[in-house]
Amino acid sequence: MSTTQSNTVNTGLEMTGLDRVVCHTDQQKLVINGRADINILWPLCHEFAEKKYNEACANHWMPQEVNMTPDIVLWRSEDGLTDEERNIIKRNLGFFSTADSLVANNIVLAIYRLITSPECRQYLLRQAFEEAVHTQSYVHIIQSLGLDEKETFNMYHEIPSVAAKANWSLGFTQGISQPDFTTGTFEKDQELLRDLIVFYIVFEGLFFYVGFVQILSMGRRNKMTATAEQFQYILRDESLHLNFGVDLINQIKIENPHLWTDAFKEEIIGIIKQGVDLEHQYAVDSMPNGILGMNHQLLRQYLEYVANRRFKQIGLPEQYGDVENPFPWMSEVMDLKKEKNFFETRVIEYQTGGALDWDDED
Ligand SMILES: [Fe+2]
Ligand SMILES: [Fe+2]
Repeated sequence: MSTTQSNTVNTGLEMTGLDRVVCHTDQQKLVINGRADINILWPLCHEFAEKKYNEACANHWMPQEVNMTPDIVLWRSEDGLTDEERNIIKRNLGFFSTADSLVANNIVLAIYRLITSPECRQYLLRQAFEEAVHTQSYVHIIQSLGLDEKETFNMYHEIPSVAAKANWSLGFTQGISQPDFTTGTFEKDQELLRDLIVFYIVFEGLFFYVGFVQILSMGRRNKMTATAEQFQYILRDESLHLNFGVDLINQIKIENPHLWTDAFKEEIIGIIKQGVDLEHQYAVDSMPNGILGMNHQLLRQYLEYVANRRFKQIGLPEQYGDVENPFPWMSEVMDLKKEKNFFETRVIEYQTGGALDWDDED
C-alpha cells in the first residue's frame, strides 16, 4: 500500500466507494489506512482483537458489588492507618480518578476514528466502557471513605508528580485528536503509532504500576481490603488493555514496516525511559519513606523490570540490564486462577472457565 495514499477518516458513514471486506489477500482490511467497509465485522482479519474482546467480557465486574464497609471502618478509626498509609491512599485515588478518563478520551476522541479494523474498534468500545467502570470505581471509593472530593479530583492539576504524568501524556494525544488530523503519510502514521505506544505501553503499562503495588501491598497486609479488591480487578482489566495494545502496535508494525525506522525506535526507547522516570518521581512523592515492605528504590527496580518487559513486547532491546522483579507476588495477583484465596473476601463468579487462561505478557 502506498504510504502517501490519502486516507478519508473512516467514520462508517461514508459508505459509497468503500471496498468490500477482503482479508489479507489484497490487504484492504488494515489496522490503519484500511479501505474495507468499517461496518462489516466479519470475516475477522485481526483475530487478536476478538480474543481480547471475549476475555474482557468474561471478566466483567461492577464496583458497587464490592462492600466498602471494612475500609470505611478502618479509615475512620483513629489508629487504624498511619499518616503515610493515608497519604498513599489519597495520592493514588487522586491520580487514578482522572487517569482513566485521560485514557478513555484518547480512545474516543483520538484513536477510534483512525483505527480502520472493525474488530479492533469493537475491542476499543469495550475498553472505553471499562475505563468508565474504573473511574466509577475510584469515585465509589472516594465517596465511601468521605475524602475531600475537590482536593482529590484536583490533584492532577495541583500535585506536581501527578500533573507531570497527565501533562506529558496529553502532549502526545493533542495532535491526533484534532478533527482535521488524518493518517496516510509517513509522519502522521508515526504520530498515531507514537500515541498508541505512549498510552498503551507507558500510561497503562507503567504509570499505573506504582499505585497498584502500593494499594495491593496494603491489601496483602489486610488493610483497605475492599479498595485493594477493586484495584485488583482494575489491574486485571489493565493487563488486558496492555496486551491488546501490544498486539495492536505489533500488527501496525507488520502491516507498515516502513514506520519502524531506527530513528523511531530510538525515539520510542527515550519515551519509555521518560515514562520510567516520571513514574519513579510519583513513587518518591507518594511514598518518601519506606513502608509496607517497599521503598521508592525498590519501586524503581520494579519499574525497570516492567519496562524491560515492555521493550521486549514491542520488539525493542531491554534497556535496564538483568533486573529482577522485587515484587514477585504481583504476578500472583494477576493470576486469576489463584485469585479466590488472595484476599479471602469473596469468590469471583464473573469468569467462565475458558477465559481464565492468560498470555503471560503482563
Ligand atoms: Fe482503566
Ligand atoms: Fe485501561
